[in-house]
Amino acid sequence: MRQRHRLLMIGPLPPGLRAALAERYELDALWEQPDCDAWLRASRGRYAGGVTMSRHGCTEAMLACLAGGVLACFGVGHDGIDLEAARRHGVQVSITPDVLDDCVADLAFGLVLATARRIPGADRHVQAGRWPGGPYPLATRVSGKRLGIVGLGRIGRAVARRAAGFDMALRYHGRAPKPDADMPFEPDLPALARWADFLVLSCPGGPATRHLVSAAVLDALGPDGFLINVARGSVVDEAALIRAIETDRIAGAGLDVYADEPRVPAALLGRDNVVVLPHVAASTQETRAAMENLVLDNLDAFFSRGAVLTPPA
Ligand code: 8YV
Repeated sequence: MRQRHRLLMIGPLPPGLRAALAERYELDALWEQPDCDAWLRASRGRYAGGVTMSRHGCTEAMLACLAGGVLACFGVGHDGIDLEAARRHGVQVSITPDVLDDCVADLAFGLVLATARRIPGADRHVQAGRWPGGPYPLATRVSGKRLGIVGLGRIGRAVARRAAGFDMALRYHGRAPKPDADMPFEPDLPALARWADFLVLSCPGGPATRHLVSAAVLDALGPDGFLINVARGSVVDEAALIRAIETDRIAGAGLDVYADEPRVPAALLGRDNVVVLPHVAASTQETRAAMENLVLDNLDAFFSRGAVLTPPA
């Protein structure tokens, strides 16, 4: 019979994933322990592996419990995982790339349309019975406009394919030009923002991109420009974004991610030019199922062949 390895769940997991894991592994739930720190101190090296989600991340103290094992992350973002500590403790890390690209790009484009065309506000206009009292104000055209992508990874490229269908001009910014990109690279982010009608953020989170979108970038985007964020809240200086929205220095924002989820600043609420979603870009049944399967496949690959399938790039 196959050995039942013991795994540490770092935080609550989607119920289907937890059930599938329970069929294959012995599971302990870190957050259900009365004293998590004491539990971690007493559990160093005790686990063959762990499972987390992007939003839970994984600290060095947690990774020490998985020494020599595996950490499977449900999510592609690994900004909350201490990869350096994982290397020191000999923990292989896996994430869930590729399988969520289309849904995240679909939602990014949904935010482009929802924000520029003010779809939620127009819907509220009808729902509240205000249409007979007068037409809904004019919105902003999307087709044929300029879209700047910050982070031309797999998700950024999927956004670009959708934008091409709307006859949009494309440019991108990132740490370095991509040799195979079929659009101009803009090394200067304020210059990209100045050029763009829509600035779409699809870059990784973490220290390297923290507050990349500053007050200066928002000013460059200008009163006709829209900010779309499906990356991480940390990429945007949220206080600067609020000031830009409150003073009409940008045209609007479509947001799926925030600095301090699940808290969304009140200043971003109740505005027809700001569309706020609760971090749902990857949240379709199909993509969530594919992500769950990839977590299970990564664990299986580690335990059967000694190497995860999809480590962070
Ligand atoms: C969420 C994400 O992790 O993959 C990521 O980095 O942000 C999302 O996929 C997922 O929806 C679970 O909350």
